[in-house]
Amino acid sequence: MNKILIFDTTLRDGEQVPGAKLNLPQKIKIAKQLEALNVDYIEAGFPASSKGDFDAVKNVAMAIGENGPVVTALARANKNDIDAVYNSVKVAKKPMIHMVLGTSNIHVEKKFNKSKDQIMSLGVDAVKYAKTLLPDVQYSTEDASRSDFEYLWETIEAVVKAGATIVNVPDTVGYAVPEEFGELIRKLHDRLMNINDKVILSVHCHNDTGLAVANSLIAVKNGATKLECTMNGIGERAGNAALEEVAMGIKVREDYYKAYTGINTREIKKTSSMVSNLMGLDIQVNKAITGENAFAHSSGIHQDGLLKSRDVYEIIRPEDVGVEEMELVLTARSGRHALKDALEKMGFDSFTDETFAKIHEKFLELADKKKEVYFHDLYYIMEKDFANEFNHLHENGKSIDLYEFVDFQVISNNVYPSATITLKKGKELFTESTVGDGPIDAVYTALRKIVNMDLKLVEYKINSISQGKEALGRASIQVIYEGKGYHSRAVDTDIIKASALAYINAINKILLENAS
Ligand code: KIV
Ligand code: ZN
Repeated sequence: MNKILIFDTTLRDGEQVPGAKLNLPQKIKIAKQLEALNVDYIEAGFPASSKGDFDAVKNVAMAIGENGPVVTALARANKNDIDAVYNSVKVAKKPMIHMVLGTSNIHVEKKFNKSKDQIMSLGVDAVKYAKTLLPDVQYSTEDASRSDFEYLWETIEAVVKAGATIVNVPDTVGYAVPEEFGELIRKLHDRLMNINDKVILSVHCHNDTGLAVANSLIAVKNGATKLECTMNGIGERAGNAALEEVAMGIKVREDYYKAYTGINTREIKKTSSMVSNLMGLDIQVNKAITGENAFAHSSGIHQDGLLKSRDVYEIIRPEDVGVEEMELVLTARSGRHALKDALEKMGFDSFTDETFAKIHEKFLELADKKKEVYFHDLYYIMEKDFANEFNHLHENGKSIDLYEFVDFQVISNNVYPSATITLKKGKELFTESTVGDGPIDAVYTALRKIVNMDLKLVEYKINSISQGKEALGRASIQVIYEGKGYHSRAVDTDIIKASALAYINAINKILLENAS
Protein backbone atom coordinates (compact mmCIF):
# COMPACT_ATOMS: atom_id res chain seq x y z
CA MET A 1 0.00 0.00 0.00
CA ASN A 2 1.33 3.41 -0.97
CA LYS A 3 0.80 6.38 1.28
CA ILE A 4 -0.51 9.26 -0.84
CA LEU A 5 0.53 12.64 0.51
CA ILE A 6 -2.10 15.36 0.39
CA PHE A 7 -0.95 18.88 -0.43
CA ASP A 8 -3.68 21.43 0.22
CA THR A 9 -3.53 24.65 -1.77
CA THR A 10 -6.89 26.13 -0.69
CA LEU A 11 -5.07 29.16 0.72
CA ARG A 12 -3.06 29.76 -2.48
CA ASP A 13 -4.69 28.37 -5.68
CA GLY A 14 -8.07 28.38 -3.89
CA GLU A 15 -7.69 31.97 -2.81
CA GLN A 16 -7.14 32.97 -6.45
CA VAL A 17 -10.92 32.67 -6.96
CA PRO A 18 -12.26 36.18 -7.58
CA GLY A 19 -13.92 37.56 -4.46
CA ALA A 20 -12.66 34.75 -2.20
CA LYS A 21 -10.03 36.83 -0.43
CA LEU A 22 -9.61 35.96 3.24
CA ASN A 23 -8.34 38.09 6.08
CA LEU A 24 -5.54 36.96 8.38
CA PRO A 25 -7.63 35.42 11.21
CA GLN A 26 -9.73 33.57 8.62
CA LYS A 27 -6.60 32.13 6.98
CA ILE A 28 -5.29 30.95 10.30
CA LYS A 29 -8.65 29.42 11.16
CA ILE A 30 -8.67 27.45 7.89
CA ALA A 31 -5.02 26.42 8.29
CA LYS A 32 -5.73 25.07 11.79
CA GLN A 33 -8.70 23.16 10.43
CA LEU A 34 -6.50 21.73 7.64
CA GLU A 35 -4.15 20.60 10.38
CA ALA A 36 -7.09 18.83 12.09
CA LEU A 37 -7.96 17.28 8.72
CA ASN A 38 -4.40 15.96 8.78
CA VAL A 39 -3.21 17.15 5.36
CA ASP A 40 0.51 16.61 4.75
CA TYR A 41 1.26 20.04 3.26
CA ILE A 42 -0.36 23.46 3.43
CA GLU A 43 0.44 25.95 0.70
CA ALA A 44 -0.35 29.15 2.54
CA GLY A 45 -0.04 31.79 -0.18
CA PHE A 46 2.17 33.63 -2.62
CA PRO A 47 4.26 35.86 -0.32
CA ALA A 48 6.06 37.87 -3.01
CA SER A 49 2.70 39.20 -4.22
CA SER A 50 2.03 41.56 -1.28
CA LYS A 51 2.94 42.33 2.30
CA GLY A 52 -0.49 41.05 3.37
CA ASP A 53 0.18 37.69 1.74
CA PHE A 54 3.68 37.53 3.23
CA ASP A 55 2.30 38.19 6.73
CA ALA A 56 -0.48 35.64 6.25
CA VAL A 57 1.98 32.91 5.21
CA LYS A 58 4.22 33.76 8.16
CA ASN A 59 1.33 33.62 10.63
CA VAL A 60 0.13 30.30 9.25
CA ALA A 61 3.68 28.99 9.50
CA MET A 62 3.77 29.99 13.17
CA ALA A 63 0.32 28.58 13.93
CA ILE A 64 0.98 25.01 12.76
CA GLY A 65 2.30 22.60 15.37
CA GLU A 66 5.29 20.29 15.19
CA ASN A 67 3.20 17.23 14.35
CA GLY A 68 1.25 19.24 11.81
CA PRO A 69 1.73 19.58 8.07
CA VAL A 70 4.70 21.00 6.19
CA VAL A 71 4.06 24.68 5.47
CA THR A 72 5.06 26.04 2.10
CA ALA A 73 4.26 28.94 -0.22
CA LEU A 74 4.70 29.66 -3.91
CA ALA A 75 7.61 31.37 -5.61
CA ARG A 76 8.44 31.97 -9.24
CA ALA A 77 11.92 30.78 -10.09
CA ASN A 78 13.71 33.96 -9.07
CA LYS A 79 15.68 35.08 -6.03
CA ASN A 80 13.22 37.71 -4.86
CA ASP A 81 10.26 35.29 -4.77
CA ILE A 82 12.32 32.51 -3.21
CA ASP A 83 13.53 34.87 -0.49
CA ALA A 84 9.94 35.90 0.21
CA VAL A 85 8.91 32.26 0.60
CA TYR A 86 11.92 31.45 2.74
CA ASN A 87 11.44 34.45 5.04
CA SER A 88 7.76 33.72 5.51
CA VAL A 89 7.93 29.93 6.04
CA LYS A 90 11.21 29.64 7.93
CA VAL A 91 9.38 30.00 11.27
CA ALA A 92 7.38 26.84 10.51
CA LYS A 93 8.31 23.59 12.28
CA LYS A 94 8.51 21.95 8.85
CA PRO A 95 9.10 24.56 6.12
CA MET A 96 9.46 23.97 2.37
CA ILE A 97 10.07 26.16 -0.68
CA HIS A 98 7.81 25.62 -3.69
CA MET A 99 8.73 27.14 -7.04
CA VAL A 100 7.08 27.07 -10.44
CA LEU A 101 8.42 27.54 -13.97
CA GLY A 102 6.77 26.58 -17.26
CA THR A 103 7.99 23.78 -19.49
CA SER A 104 5.55 23.89 -22.41
CA ASN A 105 6.57 25.53 -25.69
CA ILE A 106 3.70 27.95 -25.20
CA HIS A 107 5.10 29.08 -21.84
CA VAL A 108 8.76 29.08 -22.89
CA GLU A 109 8.17 30.99 -26.11
CA LYS A 110 5.06 33.10 -25.54
CA LYS A 111 5.23 33.83 -21.80
CA PHE A 112 9.00 34.11 -21.34
CA ASN A 113 10.22 34.74 -24.87
CA LYS A 114 13.35 32.72 -24.09
CA SER A 115 14.99 29.53 -25.32
CA LYS A 116 14.33 26.19 -23.67
CA ASP A 117 17.95 26.04 -22.47
CA GLN A 118 17.68 29.46 -20.88
CA ILE A 119 14.49 28.49 -19.04
CA MET A 120 16.01 25.23 -17.85
CA SER A 121 19.07 26.91 -16.44
CA LEU A 122 16.89 29.52 -14.69
CA GLY A 123 15.08 26.62 -13.02
CA VAL A 124 18.27 24.80 -12.04
CA ASP A 125 19.83 27.99 -10.60
CA ALA A 126 16.65 28.71 -8.66
CA VAL A 127 16.64 25.22 -7.11
CA LYS A 128 20.34 25.53 -6.24
CA TYR A 129 19.66 28.86 -4.56
CA ALA A 130 16.60 27.54 -2.67
CA LYS A 131 18.69 24.59 -1.43
CA THR A 132 21.08 27.00 0.26
CA LEU A 133 18.08 28.12 2.36
CA LEU A 134 16.08 24.96 3.09
CA PRO A 135 16.54 21.25 2.47
CA ASP A 136 13.01 20.67 1.10
CA VAL A 137 12.35 22.18 -2.31
CA GLN A 138 9.45 21.42 -4.62
CA TYR A 139 9.72 22.20 -8.34
CA SER A 140 6.55 22.56 -10.44
CA THR A 141 6.87 22.18 -14.19
CA GLU A 142 3.98 24.49 -15.09
CA ASP A 143 1.80 23.38 -18.01
CA ALA A 144 3.52 19.97 -17.95
CA SER A 145 0.63 18.22 -19.71
CA ARG A 146 1.15 20.40 -22.81
CA SER A 147 4.94 20.11 -22.76
CA ASP A 148 7.20 18.26 -25.12
CA PHE A 149 7.92 15.04 -23.17
CA GLU A 150 11.69 14.93 -23.66
CA TYR A 151 12.12 18.56 -22.65
CA LEU A 152 9.88 17.99 -19.63
CA TRP A 153 11.98 15.01 -18.61
CA GLU A 154 15.31 16.84 -19.17
CA THR A 155 14.01 19.64 -16.92
CA ILE A 156 12.97 17.20 -14.22
CA GLU A 157 16.29 15.37 -14.40
CA ALA A 158 18.20 18.65 -14.14
CA VAL A 159 16.23 20.05 -11.19
CA VAL A 160 16.43 16.74 -9.32
CA LYS A 161 20.20 16.76 -9.81
CA ALA A 162 20.20 20.33 -8.49
CA GLY A 163 18.45 19.12 -5.31
CA ALA A 164 14.67 19.29 -5.81
CA THR A 165 13.02 16.87 -3.37
CA ILE A 166 9.56 16.92 -4.95
CA VAL A 167 8.72 17.12 -8.63
CA ASN A 168 5.19 18.38 -9.22
CA VAL A 169 3.58 17.84 -12.62
CA PRO A 170 0.73 20.31 -13.14
CA ASP A 171 -2.08 20.03 -15.63
CA THR A 172 -2.25 23.79 -15.39
CA VAL A 173 -5.09 24.39 -17.87
CA GLY A 174 -7.03 21.16 -17.37
CA TYR A 175 -5.98 19.88 -20.79
CA ALA A 176 -5.10 16.31 -19.81
CA VAL A 177 -7.29 13.25 -20.31
CA PRO A 178 -6.94 10.38 -17.85
CA GLU A 179 -5.40 7.65 -20.07
CA GLU A 180 -2.85 10.03 -21.55
CA PHE A 181 -2.05 11.68 -18.23
CA GLY A 182 -1.66 8.29 -16.54
CA GLU A 183 0.77 7.27 -19.26
CA LEU A 184 2.76 10.51 -18.80
CA ILE A 185 3.02 9.94 -15.05
CA ARG A 186 4.01 6.30 -15.51
CA LYS A 187 6.86 7.27 -17.87
CA LEU A 188 8.07 10.02 -15.55
CA HIS A 189 7.81 7.72 -12.54
CA ASP A 190 9.86 4.96 -14.19
CA ARG A 191 12.62 7.35 -15.23
CA LEU A 192 12.61 9.15 -11.89
CA MET A 193 13.04 5.86 -10.01
CA ASN A 194 16.21 5.26 -12.04
CA ILE A 195 17.84 8.53 -11.11
CA ASN A 196 16.58 9.08 -7.52
CA ASP A 197 13.93 6.97 -5.87
CA LYS A 198 13.69 9.33 -2.87
CA VAL A 199 12.20 12.13 -4.94
CA ILE A 200 8.42 12.44 -4.57
CA LEU A 201 6.36 12.55 -7.77
CA SER A 202 3.33 14.81 -7.42
CA VAL A 203 0.47 16.07 -9.62
CA HIS A 204 -1.63 19.24 -9.59
CA CYS A 205 -4.74 18.98 -11.78
CA HIS A 206 -7.16 21.67 -12.88
CA ASN A 207 -10.80 21.06 -13.65
CA ASP A 208 -11.44 22.92 -16.91
CA THR A 209 -13.12 19.89 -18.50
CA GLY A 210 -14.25 18.36 -15.23
CA LEU A 211 -11.41 15.80 -15.11
CA ALA A 212 -9.24 17.08 -12.27
CA VAL A 213 -10.14 14.30 -9.85
CA ALA A 214 -10.03 11.59 -12.53
CA ASN A 215 -6.58 12.79 -13.65
CA SER A 216 -5.32 12.89 -10.06
CA LEU A 217 -6.53 9.36 -9.37
CA ILE A 218 -5.09 7.89 -12.57
CA ALA A 219 -1.80 9.53 -11.56
CA VAL A 220 -1.92 7.60 -8.27
CA LYS A 221 -2.48 4.40 -10.21
CA ASN A 222 0.62 5.22 -12.26
CA GLY A 223 3.09 6.08 -9.53
CA ALA A 224 2.35 9.58 -8.20
CA THR A 225 2.51 9.62 -4.41
CA LYS A 226 1.47 13.19 -3.77
CA LEU A 227 -1.69 15.02 -4.87
CA GLU A 228 -2.28 18.74 -4.85
CA CYS A 229 -5.88 19.75 -4.25
CA THR A 230 -8.20 22.24 -2.61
CA MET A 231 -11.21 21.98 -0.36
CA ASN A 232 -14.44 21.94 -2.38
CA GLY A 233 -12.30 21.95 -5.55
CA ILE A 234 -12.02 25.74 -5.55
CA GLY A 235 -9.19 27.41 -7.46
CA GLU A 236 -8.20 29.27 -10.58
CA ARG A 237 -10.99 29.20 -13.26
CA ALA A 238 -12.91 25.90 -12.92
CA GLY A 239 -10.81 25.04 -9.89
CA ASN A 240 -8.54 22.23 -8.77
CA ALA A 241 -9.04 18.60 -7.86
CA ALA A 242 -11.30 18.52 -4.80
CA LEU A 243 -9.49 17.24 -1.71
CA GLU A 244 -12.55 15.49 -0.33
CA GLU A 245 -13.13 13.69 -3.64
CA VAL A 246 -9.58 12.41 -4.11
CA ALA A 247 -9.34 11.38 -0.47
CA MET A 248 -12.65 9.51 -0.51
CA GLY A 249 -12.01 8.17 -4.03
CA ILE A 250 -8.86 6.51 -2.71
CA LYS A 251 -10.52 5.36 0.52
CA VAL A 252 -13.56 3.84 -1.16
CA ARG A 253 -11.42 2.02 -3.76
CA GLU A 254 -8.35 1.26 -1.67
CA ASP A 255 -8.43 -2.21 -3.25
CA TYR A 256 -7.99 -0.72 -6.72
CA TYR A 257 -5.48 2.03 -6.00
CA LYS A 258 -3.54 -0.01 -3.41
CA ALA A 259 -3.08 3.28 -1.61
CA TYR A 260 -4.31 5.30 1.36
CA THR A 261 -4.07 8.86 2.62
CA GLY A 262 -3.61 10.18 6.16
CA ILE A 263 -6.72 12.38 5.88
CA ASN A 264 -8.94 12.38 8.94
CA THR A 265 -12.07 12.02 6.83
CA ARG A 266 -14.40 12.80 9.74
CA GLU A 267 -13.17 16.42 9.53
CA ILE A 268 -14.13 16.76 5.85
CA LYS A 269 -17.61 18.23 6.24
CA LYS A 270 -16.49 20.74 8.86
CA THR A 271 -13.54 21.88 6.73
CA SER A 272 -15.69 22.14 3.63
CA SER A 273 -18.35 24.25 5.39
CA MET A 274 -15.71 26.48 6.94
CA VAL A 275 -14.04 27.17 3.58
CA SER A 276 -17.38 27.75 1.89
CA ASN A 277 -18.63 30.10 4.60
CA LEU A 278 -15.44 32.12 5.04
CA MET A 279 -14.81 32.48 1.31
CA GLY A 280 -18.47 33.07 0.48
CA LEU A 281 -18.39 30.33 -2.16
CA ASP A 282 -21.46 28.12 -2.24
CA ILE A 283 -21.18 24.39 -2.74
CA GLN A 284 -23.44 23.01 -5.44
CA VAL A 285 -26.12 20.86 -3.80
CA ASN A 286 -25.21 17.68 -5.68
CA LYS A 287 -21.44 18.09 -5.20
CA ALA A 288 -19.78 14.76 -4.40
CA ILE A 289 -19.04 14.20 -0.69
CA THR A 290 -19.79 17.72 0.57
CA GLY A 291 -22.92 18.80 -1.33
CA GLU A 292 -26.11 19.11 0.66
CA ASN A 293 -27.70 16.22 -1.25
CA ALA A 294 -24.62 13.98 -1.30
CA PHE A 295 -26.23 11.64 1.23
CA ALA A 296 -29.90 12.49 0.78
CA HIS A 297 -32.07 9.82 -0.79
CA SER A 298 -35.40 11.04 -2.01
CA SER A 299 -36.76 8.65 -4.67
CA GLY A 300 -39.08 5.98 -3.36
CA ILE A 301 -37.10 3.13 -4.96
CA HIS A 302 -33.84 4.32 -3.43
CA GLN A 303 -35.32 4.99 0.00
CA ASP A 304 -36.88 1.54 -0.05
CA GLY A 305 -33.57 -0.14 -0.97
CA LEU A 306 -31.62 1.86 1.55
CA LEU A 307 -33.97 0.97 4.34
CA LYS A 308 -33.49 -2.73 3.59
CA SER A 309 -29.74 -2.32 3.79
CA ARG A 310 -27.67 0.86 3.73
CA ASP A 311 -25.13 -0.57 1.29
CA VAL A 312 -27.80 -0.96 -1.40
CA TYR A 313 -27.36 2.71 -2.33
CA GLU A 314 -24.58 3.95 -0.05
CA ILE A 315 -20.85 3.46 -0.64
CA ILE A 316 -19.78 6.07 1.88
CA ARG A 317 -21.17 6.31 5.39
CA PRO A 318 -22.12 9.97 5.94
CA GLU A 319 -20.60 9.85 9.42
CA ASP A 320 -17.23 8.86 7.89
CA VAL A 321 -16.99 12.31 6.32
CA GLY A 322 -18.39 14.09 9.35
CA VAL A 323 -21.99 14.40 8.20
CA GLU A 324 -23.84 13.96 11.45
CA GLU A 325 -27.15 12.66 10.34
CA MET A 326 -28.80 11.18 7.31
CA GLU A 327 -32.38 12.33 7.30
CA LEU A 328 -34.44 10.80 4.56
CA VAL A 329 -36.08 13.84 3.05
CA LEU A 330 -39.56 12.67 2.23
CA THR A 331 -41.21 13.99 -0.90
CA ALA A 332 -44.36 13.08 -2.79
CA ARG A 333 -42.22 10.55 -4.62
CA SER A 334 -41.07 8.75 -1.50
CA GLY A 335 -42.61 5.33 -1.33
CA ARG A 336 -44.74 3.84 1.41
CA HIS A 337 -41.78 1.96 2.83
CA ALA A 338 -39.88 5.20 3.49
CA LEU A 339 -42.90 6.76 5.12
CA LYS A 340 -43.46 3.71 7.29
CA ASP A 341 -39.82 3.65 8.31
CA ALA A 342 -39.88 7.34 9.27
CA LEU A 343 -43.00 6.78 11.34
CA GLU A 344 -41.48 3.78 13.06
CA LYS A 345 -38.33 5.75 13.88
CA MET A 346 -40.59 8.28 15.57
CA GLY A 347 -42.27 5.65 17.68
CA PHE A 348 -45.45 5.14 15.65
CA ASP A 349 -44.89 1.49 15.07
CA SER A 350 -48.17 -0.34 15.07
CA PHE A 351 -50.95 0.62 12.74
CA THR A 352 -53.56 -1.14 10.72
CA ASP A 353 -53.38 -1.04 6.94
CA GLU A 354 -56.39 1.22 7.01
CA THR A 355 -54.76 3.76 9.35
CA PHE A 356 -51.55 3.68 7.37
CA ALA A 357 -53.48 4.38 4.14
CA LYS A 358 -55.01 7.45 5.80
CA ILE A 359 -51.64 8.64 7.08
CA HIS A 360 -50.20 8.17 3.61
CA GLU A 361 -52.97 10.26 2.14
CA LYS A 362 -52.36 13.09 4.62
CA PHE A 363 -48.64 12.83 3.96
CA LEU A 364 -49.18 13.18 0.20
CA GLU A 365 -51.38 16.24 0.73
CA LEU A 366 -48.65 17.85 2.83
CA ALA A 367 -45.86 16.80 0.46
CA ASP A 368 -47.71 18.42 -2.45
CA LYS A 369 -47.99 21.64 -0.47
CA LYS A 370 -44.58 21.71 1.19
CA LYS A 371 -42.47 19.81 -1.41
CA GLU A 372 -40.23 18.45 1.35
CA VAL A 373 -41.52 16.75 4.47
CA TYR A 374 -39.38 16.43 7.57
CA PHE A 375 -39.78 14.30 10.67
CA HIS A 376 -41.41 17.00 12.71
CA ASP A 377 -43.94 17.57 9.91
CA LEU A 378 -44.91 13.91 10.19
CA TYR A 379 -45.12 14.27 13.91
CA TYR A 380 -47.46 17.17 13.38
CA ILE A 381 -49.74 15.10 11.10
CA MET A 382 -49.82 12.32 13.67
CA GLU A 383 -50.58 14.64 16.54
CA LYS A 384 -53.24 16.54 14.67
CA ASP A 385 -55.08 13.77 12.91
CA PHE A 386 -54.20 10.48 14.52
CA ALA A 387 -53.74 11.24 18.20
CA ASN A 388 -56.57 8.92 19.23
CA GLU A 389 -55.06 5.95 17.45
CA PHE A 390 -51.69 6.53 19.04
CA ASN A 391 -52.57 7.55 22.56
CA HIS A 392 -49.89 5.18 23.93
CA LEU A 393 -47.47 7.96 23.03
CA HIS A 394 -49.35 10.35 25.23
CA GLU A 395 -49.28 7.82 28.03
CA ASN A 396 -45.53 7.43 28.07
CA GLY A 397 -45.12 11.16 28.02
CA LYS A 398 -43.78 11.49 24.50
CA SER A 399 -46.47 13.84 23.32
CA ILE A 400 -45.19 17.32 22.76
CA ASP A 401 -46.53 20.44 21.15
CA LEU A 402 -44.41 21.81 18.34
CA TYR A 403 -44.20 25.36 17.05
CA GLU A 404 -46.28 26.24 14.02
CA PHE A 405 -45.75 29.24 11.80
CA VAL A 406 -48.77 31.57 11.83
CA ASP A 407 -47.82 34.93 10.37
CA PHE A 408 -45.01 37.41 9.97
CA GLN A 409 -44.19 40.90 8.83
CA VAL A 410 -40.70 42.01 7.92
CA ILE A 411 -39.42 45.49 7.18
CA SER A 412 -36.10 45.79 5.43
CA ASN A 413 -34.38 49.18 5.46
CA ASN A 414 -31.02 50.78 6.11
CA VAL A 415 -31.67 51.90 9.65
CA TYR A 416 -33.81 49.41 11.59
CA PRO A 417 -34.61 46.18 9.75
CA SER A 418 -37.35 44.66 11.87
CA ALA A 419 -39.61 41.65 12.11
CA THR A 420 -42.82 40.71 13.85
CA ILE A 421 -43.57 37.02 13.95
CA THR A 422 -46.40 34.93 15.34
CA LEU A 423 -46.16 31.24 16.17
CA LYS A 424 -48.63 28.76 17.64
CA LYS A 425 -47.82 26.01 20.07
CA GLY A 426 -50.71 23.85 21.09
CA LYS A 427 -53.55 26.33 21.54
CA GLU A 428 -51.33 29.24 22.52
CA LEU A 429 -50.25 32.07 20.21
CA PHE A 430 -46.91 33.87 20.63
CA THR A 431 -45.93 37.14 18.98
CA GLU A 432 -42.59 38.97 19.15
CA SER A 433 -41.22 42.05 17.37
CA THR A 434 -37.53 42.85 17.13
CA VAL A 435 -34.98 44.77 15.13
CA GLY A 436 -31.86 43.12 13.74
CA ASP A 437 -28.77 43.63 11.59
CA GLY A 438 -30.93 42.64 8.62
CA PRO A 439 -34.36 41.14 8.00
CA ILE A 440 -33.26 37.53 8.58
CA ASP A 441 -31.42 38.46 11.76
CA ALA A 442 -34.56 40.27 12.95
CA VAL A 443 -36.71 37.19 12.21
CA TYR A 444 -34.28 34.87 13.97
CA THR A 445 -34.00 37.13 16.99
CA ALA A 446 -37.79 37.25 17.28
CA LEU A 447 -37.97 33.45 17.03
CA ARG A 448 -35.29 33.02 19.67
CA LYS A 449 -37.24 35.30 21.99
CA ILE A 450 -40.43 33.30 21.50
CA VAL A 451 -38.87 29.91 22.10
CA ASN A 452 -36.45 31.18 24.75
CA MET A 453 -33.66 28.91 23.60
CA ASP A 454 -29.98 29.76 23.32
CA LEU A 455 -29.46 28.96 19.63
CA LYS A 456 -26.33 29.87 17.72
CA LEU A 457 -26.67 30.11 13.95
CA VAL A 458 -23.50 28.74 12.38
CA GLU A 459 -24.57 28.22 8.77
CA TYR A 460 -27.17 29.90 6.60
CA LYS A 461 -27.72 29.35 2.90
CA ILE A 462 -30.43 30.23 0.49
CA ASN A 463 -30.73 28.60 -2.94
CA SER A 464 -33.23 28.82 -5.71
CA ILE A 465 -34.61 25.37 -6.50
CA SER A 466 -36.98 26.16 -9.35
CA GLN A 467 -37.55 28.89 -11.91
CA GLY A 468 -40.08 31.51 -12.88
CA LYS A 469 -42.64 33.51 -10.92
CA GLU A 470 -43.39 30.59 -8.61
CA ALA A 471 -39.69 29.93 -7.98
CA LEU A 472 -39.00 28.23 -4.68
CA GLY A 473 -36.20 29.28 -2.38
CA ARG A 474 -34.67 26.70 -0.11
CA ALA A 475 -33.15 27.91 3.14
CA SER A 476 -30.64 25.56 4.76
CA ILE A 477 -29.30 26.33 8.18
CA GLN A 478 -27.30 24.84 10.98
CA VAL A 479 -27.80 25.92 14.58
CA ILE A 480 -25.91 24.85 17.66
CA TYR A 481 -27.92 24.08 20.76
CA GLU A 482 -26.21 22.87 23.94
CA GLY A 483 -23.07 22.02 21.96
CA LYS A 484 -24.84 19.92 19.33
CA GLY A 485 -25.39 20.90 15.69
CA TYR A 486 -28.83 20.68 14.07
CA HIS A 487 -29.30 21.02 10.30
CA SER A 488 -32.64 21.93 8.86
CA ARG A 489 -34.16 23.21 5.68
CA ALA A 490 -37.40 24.63 4.35
CA VAL A 491 -38.76 25.73 1.00
CA ASP A 492 -41.13 28.52 0.12
CA THR A 493 -41.70 31.01 -2.68
CA ASP A 494 -40.83 33.75 -0.16
CA ILE A 495 -37.19 33.40 0.85
CA ILE A 496 -37.63 35.22 4.16
CA LYS A 497 -40.49 32.89 5.06
CA ALA A 498 -38.35 29.89 3.96
CA SER A 499 -35.64 31.19 6.29
CA ALA A 500 -38.09 31.49 9.17
CA LEU A 501 -39.52 28.01 8.50
CA ALA A 502 -36.03 26.47 8.42
CA TYR A 503 -35.35 27.97 11.84
CA ILE A 504 -38.69 26.75 13.20
CA ASN A 505 -37.89 23.30 11.77
CA ALA A 506 -34.61 23.28 13.68
CA ILE A 507 -36.39 24.33 16.88
CA ASN A 508 -38.97 21.57 16.48
CA LYS A 509 -36.24 19.04 15.80
CA ILE A 510 -34.56 20.01 19.08
CA LEU A 511 -37.85 19.86 20.98
CA LEU A 512 -38.61 16.41 19.57
CA GLU A 513 -35.16 15.11 20.33
CA ASN A 514 -35.20 16.38 23.88
CA ALA A 515 -38.68 15.02 24.50
CA SER A 516 -37.81 11.40 23.70
O1 KIV B 1 -1.77 25.35 -11.99
C1 KIV B 1 -0.54 25.41 -11.80
O2 KIV B 1 0.29 25.07 -12.64
C2 KIV B 1 -0.11 25.90 -10.50
C3 KIV B 1 1.32 25.75 -10.14
C4 KIV B 1 1.79 26.87 -9.33
C5 KIV B 1 1.55 24.44 -9.48
O3 KIV B 1 -0.92 26.34 -9.72
ZN1 ZN C 1 -2.92 25.60 -10.19
